[in-house]
Amino acid sequence: MIATAQAPANIAFIKYWGNKPGNLPWSDTISFNLSNCTTETTVTWQPHLAQDTVTIDNQPATQKALLRTIEFLDAIRSTYDIKHKAQVTSRNNFPMSVGIASSASGFSALALAAIAAARLELPESELSALARLGSGSACRSVPDGFVIWHAGQDRQSSYAESLYPSDYWDLRDFVVIVSEQEKKVGSADGHKLARTSPLFETRIKVNLPTRLKAVLHALETKDIKLLGETIEQEARELHQVALTSTPSIVYATNQTHELIDQVIPDWRRQGIPAYFTLDAGPNVHVIVPGGNPADTIRQNLHQLPYQFIENQPAPGARVISQS
Ligand code: PMV
Repeated sequence: MIATAQAPANIAFIKYWGNKPGNLPWSDTISFNLSNCTTETTVTWQPHLAQDTVTIDNQPATQKALLRTIEFLDAIRSTYDIKHKAQVTSRNNFPMSVGIASSASGFSALALAAIAAARLELPESELSALARLGSGSACRSVPDGFVIWHAGQDRQSSYAESLYPSDYWDLRDFVVIVSEQEKKVGSADGHKLARTSPLFETRIKVNLPTRLKAVLHALETKDIKLLGETIEQEARELHQVALTSTPSIVYATNQTHELIDQVIPDWRRQGIPAYFTLDAGPNVHVIVPGGNPADTIRQNLHQLPYQFIENQPAPGARVISQS
């Protein structure tokens, strides 16, 4: 009754921001899996354990992380009629302190390990819908490569599937760590506040359908300019919705603005097709095709005073051992 799974984090081209109960989104979203930001999680269902135990990066989980994990394990227990408590050990290959969302890799690895440890076999869509209960974006870390999350309308119909495998398009995501501080407002609270923004309705009704079409077309035709221009608008809108929520949430710092308003546009003026996207935080994701453009950006980033992590599109979550 023990299994280990490995799962990647993902970066969204079209963002999930604002939700309905059960982590149901208002729109489809699109992302790709990150090769160098992964979590490995081992789950043992223990007949004699009195309570769930959770270790993250060799430390007992914080109270907040523990409660969130127990809630997720409870959902698995009640759905699949599992009676035992679990021993969960999780390791991230990227420092959690760098503020990259580890919830997507964390909950997708946990979902796969928990199901495999219970000797259950589920279709990918069900594993994805299950991971979504832990963290919405975790459902996109289950399928391979470039992924679409179908918004759906209930627990079963809201899941992600692969659009293209990881080797379809050699794009790079350089995650530039401008701040290591934990964000003050986590995404769970951000999702609740999103609807208070006056921009939210137009975003859902007009902007997201238009951008989804554009990103799907850009992926199909491997059009980096269309992809890049669309994801930059999308990232700016995520931050504008957060800023205009009540209360307002500020995620970007001066360093974020310097990169997205000056440094990256400068690189483009020099002919490098580099574009940015952002999550709910200050760090900047530079999206650029592999080969010469990525080589140049790597050299340029070494001149800046920030750590960075280079990623390629990656396969989705996998069970790596079971016994
Ligand atoms: O899965 P959550 O609840 O951590 O939300 C993720 C939200 C964003 O990362 C900001 C956007 C996205 O689609 O990944």
